[in-house]
Amino acid sequence: MTNPFKYGRIVTGEDFADREKEIEQLLKDLKSGQNILLYSPRRYGKTSLIINVLNVLLKEKIITVFIDLYGCISISDLVDKIIEETVIPAQGTVQKVADFLKGWISNLRPEIALNPDGSIGISLKKEVQALGAEKVLSQILDAPQKLAETKKRPMIVVFDEFQEISNMDGLNIEKTMRSRFQNHKNVTYLFAGSRKHLIDEIFGQEKRPFYKFAKPFPIENIPRRDFAKFIHRKFKETKILIDPKTIELILDFTKGHPYFTQELCHEIWNIASETNEVKAADFAEAIKTILYQHGDYFTRVWDYLALSQRKLIFALAQENKVISVYSTVFIEKYDLTSASHVEKAIDYLEKEGIIEHDAEAYYIGDIFLNEWVKDKICSSNALNKASPVKRRPRSTKKQKLRRHSR
Ligand SMILES: Nc1ncnc2c1ncn2[C@@H]1O[C@H](COP(=O)(O)OP(=O)(O)O)[C@@H](O)[C@H]1O
Ligand SMILES: [Mg+2]
Repeated sequence: MTNPFKYGRIVTGEDFADREKEIEQLLKDLKSGQNILLYSPRRYGKTSLIINVLNVLLKEKIITVFIDLYGCISISDLVDKIIEETVIPAQGTVQKVADFLKGWISNLRPEIALNPDGSIGISLKKEVQALGAEKVLSQILDAPQKLAETKKRPMIVVFDEFQEISNMDGLNIEKTMRSRFQNHKNVTYLFAGSRKHLIDEIFGQEKRPFYKFAKPFPIENIPRRDFAKFIHRKFKETKILIDPKTIELILDFTKGHPYFTQELCHEIWNIASETNEVKAADFAEAIKTILYQHGDYFTRVWDYLALSQRKLIFALAQENKVISVYSTVFIEKYDLTSASHVEKAIDYLEKEGIIEHDAEAYYIGDIFLNEWVKDKICSSNALNKASPVKRRPRSTKKQKLRRHSR
């Protein structure tokens, strides 16, 4: 029997728990033409939620387009991606794609080819070289509106990991996009992002082109009762007995974080599938397995932190969540030197995606990293004895953003 707890990929349908209210609200907003900014740290289930919403819209004959900006490193990539994701699915054949493009961007000559696997490929790389990326992009951005007009149907376009545009001449792209999008009467946009500080900069600063362009839509952990029902159902369907108390234990630990809950349940299921019953010791055993699996990665993260950052991480791990990070009591308890040292460490660790904060408190984003620090770094004495702080190799902005992905 296959493990019913899936993580590290998009989950839909039966593998997707709850989010009913979010789905309902998103459908309502998008259908009424409201642009949306969906945000949360990574692994809270944005992409999965979006795909589930798009699946409903598709059934209602609304044209949907999903453009993932992750991995797009140049405007030229972005141009090709927009064309590929909008025109190809809507038009279907090489001839229809060519006809549509000819009727609308007659000054551009995209390369259209049939790939060996039967899919269609389009590239405007040569045009970008000849005419300049901005000029080509400015025209290509109208593709969704042109298609919506041709098909006489409304259209919803998603840009996932939208903050990635900051890696490619961000501000100019923002200006170009904003100036095109505001003319698109038949297209509604959903922007999703995981890097809070970048998303805040793009959508939250008065001077930026996207200021107030979309309705903020934060997503959080899955409510306890709904996740408990989901976990119970998944174990039951695969004929493994689980005590409701263990489910409570799981959710106490993960707080309903979608990815970590699935990851932990996945391991518990693996252990329990041998006896068809979750035993009392399996919970702790599963956590141990996960810490072991990620041990190398956590060690690398730790090794690259400066001493003041390690001290803060250590302190957060001991406390789980900290409201008053700048209080004298907290600073003295964990030998954090001063409020300005804490501020600098927070700034860095947040940008790197290692710590997060909600309306109330700061905490380590990865609950298993939190557990690993508690487990391995057992006293502030050990902090100072830990391996000397390694200098990071010089890295590009892009690499920095990726480093803490796992
Ligand atoms: N509604 C959900 N129900 C159950 N698991 C979920 C749900 N949403 C997300 N997950 C879990 O979280 C993981 C990450 O989801 P994903 O949609 O990729 O998040 P994001 O786009 O925010 O990084 C999924 O692989 C899945 O294990
Ligand atoms: Mg995603």
